[in-house]
Amino acid sequence: MKHIQLSYDKVLDFVSAEKIADYENDVKVANEALHNGTGKGNDFLGWLNLPSSINEAHLADVENTAKLLRENCEVVVVIGIGGSYLGAKAVIDALSNSFDWLQTERKNPVVVYAGQNIGEDYLYELQELLKNKKFGIISISKSGTTTEPALAFRLLKTQLEEQQGKESAKKLIVCVTDKAKGALRTLANQEGLKSFVLEDSVGGRYSVLTPVGLLPIAVAGFDIRQLVQGAREMETICGLDTPFAENPAAQYAAVRNELYRNGKKIEILVNYHPKLHYISEWWKQLYGESEGKEHKGIFPASVDFTTDLHSMGQWIQDGERTIFETVISVKEPNYTKAVPFSEENLDGLNFLAGKRVDEVNKMAELGTMIAHVDGGVPNLKIELPKVNEFYLGELIYFFEKACGISSYLLGVNPFDQPGVEDYKRNMFALLEKPGFEEETKAIKARL
Ligand code: PA5
Repeated sequence: MKHIQLSYDKVLDFVSAEKIADYENDVKVANEALHNGTGKGNDFLGWLNLPSSINEAHLADVENTAKLLRENCEVVVVIGIGGSYLGAKAVIDALSNSFDWLQTERKNPVVVYAGQNIGEDYLYELQELLKNKKFGIISISKSGTTTEPALAFRLLKTQLEEQQGKESAKKLIVCVTDKAKGALRTLANQEGLKSFVLEDSVGGRYSVLTPVGLLPIAVAGFDIRQLVQGAREMETICGLDTPFAENPAAQYAAVRNELYRNGKKIEILVNYHPKLHYISEWWKQLYGESEGKEHKGIFPASVDFTTDLHSMGQWIQDGERTIFETVISVKEPNYTKAVPFSEENLDGLNFLAGKRVDEVNKMAELGTMIAHVDGGVPNLKIELPKVNEFYLGELIYFFEKACGISSYLLGVNPFDQPGVEDYKRNMFALLEKPGFEEETKAIKARL
């Protein structure tokens, strides 16, 4: 059985193999703190053994709910922000046809997103699109009180009720939220909407393997069992019993912390496979919100190559030497396409005739890696045998586990996000939300 592979030989000109090996004990302590629940944020470890604890009844419930939405909707709007939408979008985009929205003969409803911004034009255009369409809503909010998704839900639920009638609309709305707290739970209970519980112990950014991610992914027509199976395999591979030399999450956490201690403050996640763009967005939230606190933490950035080699490539090759790259490399694309021969050869590309497009891409990847390492940028590589549900499941759990270990090495709580509250307080004060009278007075005095 193949698995995703981590390699880091191209960091060894910058940090020594001995220094990395020295992390073995600290990583073990961090991993034990996760498994024994003795570290910071130990109320939020529900994701740790989640893949192996998902049972058949739960998967069937998610699949049956998805089936109802699939049978009754042309479009399903997933409402959520941050951890309540990024994981689903990352997996759906990675697995979907790149031109999915243009396909006329559809087996699956189109999945679109709302509540991840407060763009008036975005919401206007979405509501125009949904006019006269059979649509459904998956409303996701762990707290049930986040402004962006609550606002989008109010608009879209009203529209759905107007288009379908109140009773029919109820069958087309599914909520994923806390078991007892929050406005979304109150509403789901009062109106008798189908709902899934997001356990207190699973934070938003670690929730993609709960119904937060699984339900939209199943609605989009993908195999959530394979996704969970991949995550289960990785749970074992990254487990407590695996020695450091064989544990990719332990090694990734060690290498990136050693690079950070040596002045590499920015990690750029790189892909050569455009469908992985949102995997990077999900990863940025996971690492940014988990590690960026107490004035510490690697800044997570991302690029899509070769596209961004023609923009950010200059900076990466030649700018300030405070960066390292982690390249997600896909070994085998899902399709093949060869470069055709041309009699005229006006474009001079006959040297590529007969070669696969992916071979060109792979040489771009290798050439860039060598150039960037020569330019002073350490490179790690994560190889995915293929982009499919199973390996995405492995990748997700690998990154989650490494994030927990890495945050503990850094000395921060990986499971809170106190900094996210500051903008909310100011926004509520400026909007004169009841209960924020003092803050309103204070902030208005500063304008
Ligand atoms: O990772 C997190 O916890 C956050 O980014 C949340 O996912 C995000 O703020 C959305 O919160 P909620 O699901 O409570 O609406």
